[in-house]
Amino acid sequence: MGRRVLFLGPPGAGKGTQATLLARALGVPHISTGVMLREAVAEGTDLGNQAGVLMAAGDLVPDELVVAMVAERLSRSDAACGFLLDGFPRNIEQADALDNSVDGHAIEVVLLLTVVEDELVRRLLKRAVEDGRDDDNEDTIRRRLEVYRSETEPLVEHYPLHGVPIRRIDGLGTVEEVFARVVMALAHE
Ligand code: AP5
Repeated sequence: MGRRVLFLGPPGAGKGTQATLLARALGVPHISTGVMLREAVAEGTDLGNQAGVLMAAGDLVPDELVVAMVAERLSRSDAACGFLLDGFPRNIEQADALDNSVDGHAIEVVLLLTVVEDELVRRLLKRAVEDGRDDDNEDTIRRRLEVYRSETEPLVEHYPLHGVPIRRIDGLGTVEEVFARVVMALAHE
């Protein structure tokens, strides 16, 4: 079973939710660039100050900042036996940077969560009410979806071309139903 896994999918597809469950099941760290960046914003670090405005607008944080942050995280001992990446790589340049980074960090399998756009927007607007995340408002959600289509979706073609299998998982249904599909998809790896 693949233990270096990338969760791919649009905002609201359930990457974070499913990666949390799978990380627990596999005993590997869940590495979410969104979570790390929100922590940096909350702590007011230099990185957080640079990232906060871009995140609030739904734009990507510059590659060099994110790549350095992930490289540092992957160099820690708990990532030596596997990891779940969520939110990184987010464009071809970041994917190339990961491939060219420290040995042993090549992704073994990509899990692509698919959810229709109306449901994505519904989930994120619901979270806006429950959690008040800065970028869960209608304008920023539209922008995040656009950025996903233009910057991130090309990775769906990129990985198979580079020999990395991609498994499409229907992200509609309950969290438990989707997780059962995730486990099934990985069982074939
Ligand atoms: P990031 O935090 O990665 O946000 P995102 O990709 O927009 O993803 P979300 O967290 O909104 O959705 P998700 O797919 O993880 O779903 P979740 O499980 O949370 O990035 C935020 C920003 O940081 C970016 O816009 C960018 O500015 C910056 N950034 C991050 N990484 C970067 C990078 N590599 N390079 C440059 N910039 C970067 O679920 C969403 C909601 O739906 C939750 O409320 C959840 O409870 C609910 N839900 C989950 N599953 C279900 C289900 N099955 N049924 C009903 N509800 C569900």
